[in-house]
Amino acid sequence: MADFEFSTETRARAQEIIARYPEGRQRSALLPLLHLVQSEQGQVTPAGVAFCAEQLGLTKAEVGAVATFYTMYKRRPTGDYLVSVCTNTLCGLMGGDEIYASLSQTLGVGMNETTADGKITLEHAECLAACDYAPIVTVNYEFYDNMTPEKATDLVRRLRGSERPMPTRGARLCTLKEMSLQLAGFADERDGAVAEGPAGAPTLAGVALAEQAGVGAPGYDPKTPIPAAPAKDGAK
Ligand code: FES
Repeated sequence: MADFEFSTETRARAQEIIARYPEGRQRSALLPLLHLVQSEQGQVTPAGVAFCAEQLGLTKAEVGAVATFYTMYKRRPTGDYLVSVCTNTLCGLMGGDEIYASLSQTLGVGMNETTADGKITLEHAECLAACDYAPIVTVNYEFYDNMTPEKATDLVRRLRGSERPMPTRGARLCTLKEMSLQLAGFADERDGAVAEGPAGAPTLAGVALAEQAGVGAPGYDPKTPIPAAPAKDGAK
């Protein structure tokens, strides 16, 4: 993998990503670049780390430090479908632990392991930010709400059978490589790729309560200037 050659398309996309950042701030492109290399290889390999370092003028150690910090960057071969089971407190109490155990048994894999057919990688996760629909399972970060061991087992059975069951909410399901490309900042132009429709009732209940209590989100001015980069090596 270390001498892997990234495609011309990936190289062009890397330049497009880097050009999105102001002069002197290009290293901020590292996170989308890591998603980009994952979109081609299905994981962040040593070749992917070297590619990012070369593109941004960073050391491989600097890139590796970032790539190992975030769980969304996979350092081992990962399946087409990353099945994440929330086992944090709320989901765990609502059945998340049983869901994880039953999927582990059905698939014959443990944490961060991939089925022999390369289809599914299983992981448990700490709060998938959808507590109002607990217990939660995501597949490539798309939501499957109010799961049970039976529903989760049926979901992975269908995924292994090459179906792409619609998530409970949001956009349609895609593969991990396709999702990584979106996370790198390249929109999926296909029909149904973007979620439509209102938020679900449990989420809107929270909004209604906030409105009753007079709580709102703080304003944001998109024209807020970015401060200049600090001088390097004591230069004035
Ligand atoms: S505790 Fe499971 S989504 Fe928050």
